[in-house]
Amino acid sequence: MLSGFNSATLTAYSIKGYIMATKAKTRAGRVAERKTIRSQSPDRKKETQAASPSAVDLLEQDHREVEEWFDEYDELKEDDARKAELAQKICLALKVHAQIEEEIFYPQAREATKDNDLIDEAVVEHATVKNLIAEIESMEVGEDLYDAKIRVLGEMVKQHIKEEEEELFPELGPAKIDLEGFGKELAERKEELMAEMQA
Ligand SMILES: [Fe+2]
Ligand SMILES: [Fe+2]
Repeated sequence: MLSGFNSATLTAYSIKGYIMATKAKTRAGRVAERKTIRSQSPDRKKETQAASPSAVDLLEQDHREVEEWFDEYDELKEDDARKAELAQKICLALKVHAQIEEEIFYPQAREATKDNDLIDEAVVEHATVKNLIAEIESMEVGEDLYDAKIRVLGEMVKQHIKEEEEELFPELGPAKIDLEGFGKELAERKEELMAEMQA
């Protein structure tokens, strides 16, 4: 996983050059490039151990986790108990994730990128996702349209994740936002909300 940027990475890339190059690349290309940059930094391991996960790291971990749950649900045929368990995990994780993004990450990203349209769209997508979650939470596994609602939720969420990772995160750039500081804040708020919403 990615782990934010530090002063060592900035010596290799000018900020402007980095942002322009990043926009032009595929996601796979960006990941490969960051891996190369990381492996070139001798202090990397020490820094990673000391630092909190970056904001982008934490959000991407959440994205991968929920994508796996949607994929697992999709494979299930008659196992209603597992379906119910997965649906509950998906709904809780998405509500917490949406809230930490809206409370902490999006305001910072708005400030850093000045891309109001992109963040506005993301907020509207969250609202649609939350409405569908509320419908799912009011239903029982096995009811008509339950599986379809989970599937549509999965499609919407995967598209939203793609936009965040391919459009929003690259716009942040390495020096425009304190990624590691926000990572800590996001992680703490996530833990708090998880406890609150599970209570
Ligand atoms: Fe989001
Ligand atoms: Fe997200």
